[in-house]
Amino acid sequence: MPGDGIGKVVLQEAIRVLEAAGFEANYVNGDIGWDFWCKEGNPLPERTLKLLEEHKIGLFGAITSKPKEEAANELDPSLRDKGFTYASPIVGLRQYFNLDICVRPCKSYKGNPLNFIRRGADGGVEEPMVDVVIFRQNTEGLYGGVEWSNPPELVYEALRTHKKFVQNFGSVPKEEISVSTRIFTKKATERILRAAFEYAQKYGYKSVTLCEKPNVIRETSGMMYKMAKEIQKKDFPNIPLYNTNIDAQMMWLTKNPETYDVIVAGNMFGDIASDGFAGLIGGLGFACSAQFSADGIAVFEPTHGSAPKYAEYPVSIVNPIAMIESAVMMLEYLGEMEIAAKIRKAIAAVIAEGKVKTYDMMKMTGSPDVISKGAASTQQMADAVIAKL
Ligand code: NAI
Ligand code: MG
Repeated sequence: MPGDGIGKVVLQEAIRVLEAAGFEANYVNGDIGWDFWCKEGNPLPERTLKLLEEHKIGLFGAITSKPKEEAANELDPSLRDKGFTYASPIVGLRQYFNLDICVRPCKSYKGNPLNFIRRGADGGVEEPMVDVVIFRQNTEGLYGGVEWSNPPELVYEALRTHKKFVQNFGSVPKEEISVSTRIFTKKATERILRAAFEYAQKYGYKSVTLCEKPNVIRETSGMMYKMAKEIQKKDFPNIPLYNTNIDAQMMWLTKNPETYDVIVAGNMFGDIASDGFAGLIGGLGFACSAQFSADGIAVFEPTHGSAPKYAEYPVSIVNPIAMIESAVMMLEYLGEMEIAAKIRKAIAAVIAEGKVKTYDMMKMTGSPDVISKGAASTQQMADAVIAKL
């Protein structure tokens, strides 16, 4: 599912690397994104859902989302005023297949000029090597979409049964209240916790850290912490469980990021923590992810979007590593450990050598001129990785 903009470009490069590394597969194209919204009134066509249901494994580039009005204006004239409304297809994909487990590894490559550095005790510069894998619950919590402004009477009455609501908001007119719920279920919470522990065990990570806020958000974070302790005690006694609050975690992000191994969190805090850690290892050009459902659907994608402003450049400048890394996660999921390791090693070698760098790695502002200023193109970066294979 190449999608839109640079999604198409980076996915093509990732497949080139997979093929060069000796991974044999048939790639079936899945239509998704803006073109299909404009032409068909649906950015996530039924046939694409069918394909993914059939083949189970998806490699996804990126899509473009635009605000409702803009979306309506770009719809094919024959489809206008027929009741089509735009909804993000990647969100739709997550919901349709209940892709509730999101995994975002953040691992520094030696020699990456974008690596986080800090001052050490002796006044010198330290470059901590980060190797953190974030497990984010992907479907519930604050992003579950159960929310109201000026809530309906029933909801308002229900809220009024809560002592704290009456105390803190009792005198506020209903019309002035917005509510976003944060619903956690035991089933989904257990799945993300177990996934985190299982991953730590399988890949030899030393600890699992629950990053929530159970001291304040007592019911949801509290339930998650309680369940984490039970699961750890019962099934993973050899993997220590740590508990951090999201706010403190953000402070420790720059103080001691190398201390953390696997981090597990609910939807929003997982989103925040994963963007935070991604910033330490190079940002969007390096941030990969995978999403899994309980019934065996897996979708692998870079964290970045379609960067439409770069999509039209005659020579593509964006960094394909996030997409290639996402493809490597797919290989690991498929048990193709040797090929996965080979590609990782090749990327590491290219970065360590430091000759081939995309514009982001040179801290340039993106523009078509970056190539003439020495930045590698998307294709040249993929070529460099392939050469190291
Ligand atoms: P974006 O991730 O597309 O781009 C933000 C900026 O990050 C770019 O301008 C560029 O400077 C940099 N960047 C992104 N990918 C890069 C790469 N591979 N190499 C080097 N630099 C890179 O986010 P933005 O601009 O907020 O959104 C653009 C479109 O993408 C929107 O329509 C948005 O809705 C969509 N989007 C889609 C996502 C998805 O498909 N999963 C995720 C995020 C945004
Ligand atoms: Mg995010």
